Amino acid sequence: KSIVLLVSGRGSNMEAIVRAAIPSVRVAAVISNRPDASGLVFARAHGIATEVVDHKAFADRATFDAELARVIDAHAPDLVVLAGFMRVLTDAFVRRYEGRLLNIHPSLLPAFPGLHTHRRALEAGVKVHGATVHFVTPELDCGPIVIQAVVPVQAEDDEASLAARVLAQEHRIYPQAVQWFVEGRIAVGDDGRVRIADTI
Ligand code: GRF
Repeated sequence: KSIVLLVSGRGSNMEAIVRAAIPSVRVAAVISNRPDASGLVFARAHGIATEVVDHKAFADRATFDAELARVIDAHAPDLVVLAGFMRVLTDAFVRRYEGRLLNIHPSLLPAFPGLHTHRRALEAGVKVHGATVHFVTPELDCGPIVIQAVVPVQAEDDEASLAARVLAQEHRIYPQAVQWFVEGRIAVGDDGRVRIADTI
């Protein structure tokens, strides 16, 4: 199966997925909306095709998303993986990839959708926090949940220490979710809930 990874910055989740070397997964391309995304450097160094679709060159979301879809489709991926891709996508784009578009979000959804999740978790005083891999649907950070990881919030945590603890778990669960997907083990029921089959 082939996958395309979309990044906007550091790309550590992309790196974790590439390094996981999941059997029968071919990373067809890494695409960034920012030309200076450091994740592109890692991808190029690993011989992965890279593409830049600079959102600043487009008048609106619809034209940006249309070009992004064109670039993605040229690689004909089975799965599109958002890995720190920091653009809100149009409904048309999301529908085009329905059921084969994954995102990772740094909170235990449905808690803390949106930005600054670690700061908000600390402000709320939650004792556990974490990360969620989910299918992307038009409503932001709301799609069917594939896998989550829980981390403790410690008294001495600041945003950076909490983010680092969560990120380590992101790097574990995202490759796992991608592997389940390519193994054909993820089913989304009519109730919108994900079931993971034990065997294919
Ligand atoms: C991660 O925390 C991810 O959950 C969030 O943005 C961050 C991206 O990090 N969506 P990286 O680019 O994968 O290193």
